[in-house]
Amino acid sequence: TSNKMWGGRFAAGPDAIMEAINASIGFDKRMAAQDIAGSRAHAAMLAAQGIISDSDAEAIREGLLTILSEIEEGRFAFSTALEDIHMNVEARLKEVIGEPAGRLHTGRSRNDQVATDFKLWVRDQLDAFESGLIALIQALLGQAEAGADWVMPGFTHLQTAQPVTWGHHMMAYVEMFGRDLSRVRDARVRMNESPLGAAALAGTSFPIDRHMTADALGFDRPAANSLDAVSDRDFALEFLGAASICAMHLSRFAEELVIWSSAQFRFVALSDRFSTGSSIMPQKKNPDAAELIRAKVGRIFGANTALMMVMKGLPLTYSKDMQEDKEQVFDAADNLMLALAAMEGMVRDMTGNRENLAAAAGSGFSTATDLADWLVRVLGLPFRDAHHVTGSLVAMAEAKGCDLPDLTLEQMQSVHNDITQDVFGVLGVENSVNSRMSYGGTAPEQVRGQIARWKGLLG
Ligand code: ARG
Repeated sequence: TSNKMWGGRFAAGPDAIMEAINASIGFDKRMAAQDIAGSRAHAAMLAAQGIISDSDAEAIREGLLTILSEIEEGRFAFSTALEDIHMNVEARLKEVIGEPAGRLHTGRSRNDQVATDFKLWVRDQLDAFESGLIALIQALLGQAEAGADWVMPGFTHLQTAQPVTWGHHMMAYVEMFGRDLSRVRDARVRMNESPLGAAALAGTSFPIDRHMTADALGFDRPAANSLDAVSDRDFALEFLGAASICAMHLSRFAEELVIWSSAQFRFVALSDRFSTGSSIMPQKKNPDAAELIRAKVGRIFGANTALMMVMKGLPLTYSKDMQEDKEQVFDAADNLMLALAAMEGMVRDMTGNRENLAAAAGSGFSTATDLADWLVRVLGLPFRDAHHVTGSLVAMAEAKGCDLPDLTLEQMQSVHNDITQDVFGVLGVENSVNSRMSYGGTAPEQVRGQIARWKGLLG
């Protein structure tokens, strides 16, 4: 038999394959609460505008609440024949309240309805994204505070570069996740316009009040162009874009945690709560959460690319292609929230190994730049010459199998005659980090200043 919702011109119902490719109820049931909120706002507005009676609106609004509890309690029978969440809810409303249910769909279409539902869903995710980021930033601030003056190697090319502080390294991620936070907040402001009442695409001849429904649903205003309102999915792409960048940050940190927790580095111990064992090798404690975070990033990037591809060729306005927006966003959101929470847990629980960090900080000629700077500052050498002299000293130390501070003054003077005993004062890692007092530098005093600034920003 033909479809109850739009079957007027149809003699036959859809083929089973048609139904299978067409139905979205299997996934868009996740938007049930948003769909019902949107319909309740729409019904109240229709009554306020005299388009339907108050008693019909009351019956619709009550009936929708009944359906919401049915869904929440798992008592709702979803039907594939009814395609999607919108028609499942409306059909059930007919069963619950009878004839007034048919008046709900006045002055709207599934096109503005689905855009509204999906926006409300994505908006909730942006809020969860924001809280997840704040919790992670707070965990990083805790680590930074505990180890503001712990020295560790800073790397370029994963080769020892210069000593830095643990706090400084943690705060680098605070800056990254802080920018993610501002991206999320920007996206939320930009997306918060209501599509509801754009109807199929052209608006409606009913005297609806789009400001009223926008207000009721917590939007800042109605979207100003009905064609755009039903076509726009860039709000979902901004979510995926912000999620992708954040996931990239998470993945870089996850990669560092994998390296740092290895027996070769031993910079951190991850907690038992956030690691796993091996079924054959009894000694193993694996950083699985970090590895999974690193891997989940691929799904999030994939979702972003997939939705870009779905949208890029579509003429205005709605095309059924757009039904493929939701699964990508759902999957990306689920995995992003999980990755954020796992990273927060790992960061809160992990223990930096202060001794190993310090020992590593001093190896690999990490204070060579301090030595070159000393030659410039004290002996007045041009930096290029100082670089060359220091390079020769590093080569000498390397040949002798020792570090720079282990060379004797005589050995140093064989490379440059004017070097004095004072040089040993700059070869220590503590001295090195303490001297990096330029704004944004690694000196503990600078790091503590940045921690205080972020605490102030987060309130
Ligand atoms: N299930 C559809 C979707 O997710 C709802 C909108 C249907 N609109 C239409 N004109 N067929 O996009």
